[in-house]
Amino acid sequence: MNSRYCYISFLLVLLVLSINATESLHTYYRNGISLNGNWNVIVDPYENGYYNYRYEPFDQLNDPWSVGYYGDKKSEAPGDLIEYNFDASATLYVPGDWNTQDPKYYYYEGTIWYRKKFDAPQIENEQRVFLYFGAVNYKADVYLNAQKLGFHIGGFTPFYFEITNLLKKTENSLVVKVDNKRAKEAVPTLNTDWWNYGGITRDVKLIVVPKSFIRDYSIRFESINTKKITGKIYPDGNSGEKKITICIPELGIREKVNSANVSEFSFHAKEIVLWSPEHPKLYRIEITYGEDTLIDSIGFRTVSVKGKQILLNQKPVFLRGISIHEEYAVEGGGRVNEFWKTEQLLNWAKELGCNFIRLAHYPHNEDMIRQAEKMGFMLWSEIPVYWTIDWCNEETFQNAKNQLTENILRDRNRANIIIWSLANETPVNESRTKFLIRLAKHARSLDNTRLLSAAMEKHYKNDSLAVIEDPLAVIADVVAFNEYIGWYDGLPDKCEKVNWEIPYNKPVFISEFGAAAKYGYHGDSGLRWTEEFQENLYKKTMKMIDTIEGLCGISPWILIDFRSPRRPLPGIQDDFNRKGLLSEKGEKKKAYFVLQEYYKRKQSFSIK
Ligand code: GCU
Repeated sequence: MNSRYCYISFLLVLLVLSINATESLHTYYRNGISLNGNWNVIVDPYENGYYNYRYEPFDQLNDPWSVGYYGDKKSEAPGDLIEYNFDASATLYVPGDWNTQDPKYYYYEGTIWYRKKFDAPQIENEQRVFLYFGAVNYKADVYLNAQKLGFHIGGFTPFYFEITNLLKKTENSLVVKVDNKRAKEAVPTLNTDWWNYGGITRDVKLIVVPKSFIRDYSIRFESINTKKITGKIYPDGNSGEKKITICIPELGIREKVNSANVSEFSFHAKEIVLWSPEHPKLYRIEITYGEDTLIDSIGFRTVSVKGKQILLNQKPVFLRGISIHEEYAVEGGGRVNEFWKTEQLLNWAKELGCNFIRLAHYPHNEDMIRQAEKMGFMLWSEIPVYWTIDWCNEETFQNAKNQLTENILRDRNRANIIIWSLANETPVNESRTKFLIRLAKHARSLDNTRLLSAAMEKHYKNDSLAVIEDPLAVIADVVAFNEYIGWYDGLPDKCEKVNWEIPYNKPVFISEFGAAAKYGYHGDSGLRWTEEFQENLYKKTMKMIDTIEGLCGISPWILIDFRSPRRPLPGIQDDFNRKGLLSEKGEKKKAYFVLQEYYKRKQSFSIK
């Protein structure tokens, strides 16, 4: 078999492994070795470092003289022709989007090559080493010491590669080709109302584990009455150890199960303090297998629907929510990449009186989910199947399915996630509904303990009757929809004229409403873009939604102003979507206090 054929088959194997990595790697409490910091970068709009002049990918030519940037080469002999040099190139900080690190990258959409040099960690007793990325937007091709590890598509979910046998003692060269070009067949597609922040936007770390370790686990609290806890453990490597031990010290739990490819466990607790927004109780869990102990902190609760109610721990709950993007644009920043920004966003939501957050429109960083869990926020988690996705493209479906899988596998043990959302404002047509029904089936096959929904859209039956009529509502557990009466749809007074028809015996959730206001711009409430206009819309909307039977919650659009290329209006938007209740600097607009007041009243809510 010629070497070219071998090489291509090797790549095909990598392809399957890297984009179908439906196995997750639990890393949150493992002592990773951070590769964050300054990486050398080469901006490559023509992808000259990836394709030769015949547009053939260098990394598939198996050419030892390849000048592909992944090789991280330098001229050695006087006659060498190498037209790049990472050592002499600019740097970008990881984690972070490139758009806000240097004005020349503000609008950049294309490829930037990142390179990090690092020495191998101290390895003993045949330990193993994994390379873990929190997220890269949008496509990452990853090379270590000029060898392709694989690639990943999707800008908001983690991925990893085992590099145990590929490391040199010192001076390892890690090269990542990051390409954030939008595309019709991508997920999200060409058009979104958020900034296309490109880069290695979340942490990069080395995870060193014993040769046999616990790669991941899943756990479920089955019932309040029986206090039954079940789960699965995914050991990796055969330590010869026959048993796996599960400990929850505070519950006096110490269970042993036989190690297998997938080890299942099931036991009953005596007493358990349930997780809730009022009492976000978390327990330490320790899973030991040979020399490895995986640590996590978990909450136990049940979530279900009963008629038009959402039940948390079998009690009806009203979701006092707010939507947020993963963005806090102070100090020039874009994507949230520091813990204090995550905490600040959550503190504003807490001050607002929220017990729920809609993480729009893609999986947020893991710190956000876990800090929200500690602070008592229930969460809506969403994949970026947004607007007019390429519904008839099977590759697009597989991409969406893979992002959904990675999202669920990363966060399936988080008590505070109660809703998986499949989509946002997608057009009702046959190919879209087939696409989403397939996704829904896959989501339920991975996790049937949480509620499924999507942000649907309203239509009008007549001038004053708004309806939700969507085949997706038939398969969703919660009928959620976005509405912009008073902003995109008439003016705020229209709220007083609209009645609602939502013909499903299911909980109803308004996933978006709102209006824009420039902080500090004041005037009559009829003057668009003023704080008074936004304030008036909130007041009118609150009155209208309280007439909706079975309303179980809202997540107004949006906590804080965020960047979008669709919002250029000089002096008002300046590249920001201004529907935030706070300016991008965190200044509270008048509507913030309207919602805060409404939630005070909802604290002692009565479900209709
Ligand atoms: C839509 C969409 C949001 C967008 C918002 C707006 O509902 O879901 O992503 O930002 O409207 O137009 O401000």
